[in-house]
Amino acid sequence: MARLNPDNLAHAEELIALYPHRRSALIPILHVLQEQDGYLSEDGMAHVAELVGLEPVEVRGTASFYDMFHFEPVGRYLVAVCTNIACMLQGAYRLLEHAEETLGVAPGGTTADGMFTLEDAECLALCGNAPCVTVNWRFFGDLDPPEFDKLVEDLRSGRLDGEVPAHGTLSRVRRRHALTAGGSAGSASDQAALPNAIQPESDTPESQGPDLPAPGTHLDLSTRRSTTATAVVDAKHLESPK
Ligand code: FES
Repeated sequence: MARLNPDNLAHAEELIALYPHRRSALIPILHVLQEQDGYLSEDGMAHVAELVGLEPVEVRGTASFYDMFHFEPVGRYLVAVCTNIACMLQGAYRLLEHAEETLGVAPGGTTADGMFTLEDAECLALCGNAPCVTVNWRFFGDLDPPEFDKLVEDLRSGRLDGEVPAHGTLSRVRRRHALTAGGSAGSASDQAALPNAIQPESDTPESQGPDLPAPGTHLDLSTRRSTTATAVVDAKHLESPK
């Protein structure tokens, strides 16, 4: 696979329509391409360049800035073991060595069956559940070696197919709403129809920003990246400035 398939091409055009300039949709479309193929091929990037009106070298130059994009094929599951400070103190290097033994590859390597690519990652932002790994951007925390093996077994058997799609992508790639901060895109009626849109600022005291949820409201922040992230609105953050 190289160019975007018809479904993803249609999706790319939807993403482009969310922005005032075609090139602004570059990063989300690259995520769609990576979801399709598992990595960014030269042909795929050339296709994206055509779509957004850039040169292929500009697409590659932009994509190569970001760790999350891959330019070589990766396994069905990208297993990233965090070895940053919090995880290191909780045994991350022992976990990484164990992962190398279990999968039979060093960081950067892909198993012979194409199922797993192993990575040694910097902080994955799940420090409170160290040591942790992500698999296709889904979090798995508080892992010890036996639990890592169980995770690998569940992935191999397909038991986690519903939770960890192959070549997983991020929820924002699938969003259908434009951002309207500062009124740069979308009409007033568009904004009214988009409950999550950031509304333009106004000088009138009665419209000082979007409505905030009530203190104590339980927000579901789960995304396709994190299946467990939630938060409770802290009343302190909602107090009016004195
Ligand atoms: S140090 Fe491992 S998630 Fe932050």
